[in-house]
Amino acid sequence: MTILIEQLHDFGVEADEKKVQIDEKELALDGGFMVPETNSFGHTFRDYDAEGERQPGVENFYRVNHINQSYEFVTKMREEYSKLNRVEMSIWECCELLNDVVDESDPDLDEPQIEHLLQTAEAIRRDYPDEDWLHLTGLIHDLGKVLLLPSFGELPQWAVVGDTFPVGCAFDESIVHHKYFKENPDYNNPAYNTKYGAYSEGCGLNNILMSWGHDDYMYLVAKENKTTLPSAALFIIRYHSFYALHRSGAYKHLMNEEDVENLKWLQIFNKYDLYSKSKVRIDVEKVKPYYLSLIEKYFPAKLRW
Ligand SMILES: [Fe+2]
Ligand SMILES: [Fe+2]
Repeated sequence: MTILIEQLHDFGVEADEKKVQIDEKELALDGGFMVPETNSFGHTFRDYDAEGERQPGVENFYRVNHINQSYEFVTKMREEYSKLNRVEMSIWECCELLNDVVDESDPDLDEPQIEHLLQTAEAIRRDYPDEDWLHLTGLIHDLGKVLLLPSFGELPQWAVVGDTFPVGCAFDESIVHHKYFKENPDYNNPAYNTKYGAYSEGCGLNNILMSWGHDDYMYLVAKENKTTLPSAALFIIRYHSFYALHRSGAYKHLMNEEDVENLKWLQIFNKYDLYSKSKVRIDVEKVKPYYLSLIEKYFPAKLRW
């Protein structure tokens, strides 16, 4: 478990350099959304084989993740964290708390999380001004990363971040670093290693267990605290790291009709989640009142975490 607080000092030095406006030449147009071709390290986005400074860490991260995320592990974590008995705080307080966390699994992002949250939300707001629920979804989608912090159990990175996937049925080949699943206890378990495993055709993603991490945790927090966000928002929060589904089209045989509808929104959202990790700086104080008004609209003042 590492929270790279020391690195925050480096950001202070770099911050001014990064305040440059995004260079239009760096961008390629993708369906109306300007997509930068490279991340802050000069690699293409989600390039897990790039020989960057962070690459060995990312591969090792997935090795440990794939070995440990089993059906039994996920069941235990869901049970434990459904209690929501650790902290009481507002959504905005959580955004501020997350500022100290850097996600080791992410080859694109090396900045404090609040930047990423607001970059995502503001990019969506620019292109979908009327969908306020989607702006708020952008802001809160990664708040579950507080699981890395001591008051939330200080979980190791592999149990908090990275791509997610179903457990209880065969691990799809499209999952990044698939080879490491061979050491997962479910890999040779006939109850869990077939196409359907513990599930059935069209059973709905709501009925399958996903590898444990910040996505499912934030979904639980939002749902149990009775958010009034629409079901598409909860779907985005819960499955935004499920790349095998929303990028590779795997596991569609488990989806029901509502999942099919919600997946359209997730695919819109995902472009912003990925490509807003760039050099655009956000003036937090300036946009804060708008997001506080959305939080008030869709959440209670204090939530149980
Ligand atoms: Fe995330
Ligand atoms: Fe994100």
